[in-house]
Amino acid sequence: MSCSLSAVKICAKIAGRELFRDFSLSLAHKQKLALLAPNGRGKSTLLMILAGLLPASSGQIFIFDDEMKSLKDFEKHRSKIGFLFQDSNEQFVRASVLDDVGFGLLSFELCASKDEADKKALKMLESLGISHLKDKICFHLSGGEKKLVALAGVLITEPKIVFLDEPTAGLDESSSARLAEILGSIDASMLIASHDKDFISKITSNICELE
Ligand SMILES: Nc1ncnc2c1ncn2[C@@H]1O[C@H](COP(=O)(O)OP(=O)(O)O)[C@@H](O)[C@H]1O
Ligand SMILES: [Mg+2]
Repeated sequence: MSCSLSAVKICAKIAGRELFRDFSLSLAHKQKLALLAPNGRGKSTLLMILAGLLPASSGQIFIFDDEMKSLKDFEKHRSKIGFLFQDSNEQFVRASVLDDVGFGLLSFELCASKDEADKKALKMLESLGISHLKDKICFHLSGGEKKLVALAGVLITEPKIVFLDEPTAGLDESSSARLAEILGSIDASMLIASHDKDFISKITSNICELE
């Protein structure tokens, strides 16, 4: 099977302190892989490194077999890489739900007009069962609603690799269950950082522990 992402002997230092050393993983095409570790171990840092949002101190990262030698190399794959931040408020770039969800289409020039972006955004909201939120203000939503709107904004560009950082943080049981159901139905490769073993068990049995 071809790999969407491979990381070889990644080392990370934050503020001069070594966080992890020689960490390697492979994410196969359409595979869902959970990255489990307790809080503070370095999951968010690792996800950001693998997504090209932070530099590693050493090691190699391959996206679709193409080596990323610097953060700049990620740019050509940017529209194919989605990142769902732990805090949905960090994800929103527009006030209204419809504008926010369609934003990626316009910023990556995947749509010719705002009208077309709106139509696709509405379709995406419908597919996640949240079209009733389209005219709401992102910051007025509940935690569970915010998470699904943020996910809609990530999925709209049809990314091939999606990084999810603690997707159930702050969600109640029913929102977590709905999110697990949605993620299970998505056909992208996924790396999901979590310490929520129950949630992960609903999505995948592929687990990688950050020791
Ligand atoms: N920008 C930063 N400056 C200093 N320390 C940081 C920074 N980002 C993360 N850390 C520290 O690095 C460690 C790992 O953080 P993080 O990657 O957020 O872990 P996790 O996601 O597993 O909870 C923590 O001790 C955290 O305080
Ligand atoms: Mg974290």
